[in-house]
Amino acid sequence: MATIGIMDSGSGGLSVLKEILRLLPADKFLYYSDNANCPYGEKSSEFILGRCREIVGDFLAQGADAIVLACNTATAAAIAELRKEWPSVPFIGMEPAVKPAALGTRSGVIGVLATAGTLHASKYLDTRDTYAGDVKVVERVGRGFVELVESLQLDGPLAEATVRESLEPLLRAGADTVVLGCTHYPFLLPVLERVAGPAVRFIDPAPAAARQLVRLLDSHGIPHSSPSDPARGDITIKSSGQSETARRLLSVIL
Ligand code: DGL
Repeated sequence: MATIGIMDSGSGGLSVLKEILRLLPADKFLYYSDNANCPYGEKSSEFILGRCREIVGDFLAQGADAIVLACNTATAAAIAELRKEWPSVPFIGMEPAVKPAALGTRSGVIGVLATAGTLHASKYLDTRDTYAGDVKVVERVGRGFVELVESLQLDGPLAEATVRESLEPLLRAGADTVVLGCTHYPFLLPVLERVAGPAVRFIDPAPAAARQLVRLLDSHGIPHSSPSDPARGDITIKSSGQSETARRLLSVIL
C-alpha cells in the first residue's frame, strides 16, 4: 500500500482526502493542517514555500511515496519549486477548474471563487488565459469562507450572509458555473447551492486531483489499493495548532 502525505493551510484539504478515499480506500494517509499559519490566502509566496518545504520534508521522513498539496494557494506558490527540489517525488497540486467550467457554461459567464494568493498567481492567470479566452470570467475572493470552515460554522445565518456577499456579484454578472478554487470551500457547498439556486453548477477540482494521484502512483510503479478494497486505510492527522477542527471535519467526510 502507498503512503500519501496531504497538506493544507488548515482543514480544507480534507475535502480532497474525501475524494482520494473513494479511489484509494486502504492506503496510509498522513494529513497535516498548518492551522497555526492559516489562512495562507494573503501570505507571501516565500512564506508558503518555506512552510511547504518543512512539511514535505517531514512527510518524506515518515516514508511518504507521494505528496498532495491539497491547497490551491500553496500549489500556486510552491509546487514548481518543490518539484525541482525533489524531482523523483510525485507531487499533486490543486488548480481552479477553469477549463471544464469554460467548456460547460451555457451563459458564457463563469465565476471563480478562490483566495487572493491563487487569483494573483501566474499559474492561475496562465490557465485562465489558455482555457477561458472565449468566456467572461468573474473572480471573487471567498471573503471569510476559510474562517467559517476553520471555526466549524458550515451553515447558519453567518455562513449564509458571508457566502452571499462573495457569491452575489458572480450571480449578478450571469455566471451559471462557479469554480471552487480553494479546498475549504466545498465544506460550504450546501450554503453555496442554497444561495445560488438550482441553475448554478459548482465545480470542485478534487475528484480530478484524486484521479491524477492514482495515475502518478501507477506511472511511478507504487502499489496502492483500489475502490473495491474492503479494508480501510490508516489516517494520521497532525496540526501546527489545535487539532480539533481537523478531527471533527474528518468525521464529517468519513
Ligand atoms: N485551502 C486553501 C486553498 O485551497 C487555502 C486557504 C487559505 O489558507 O487561505 O487555497
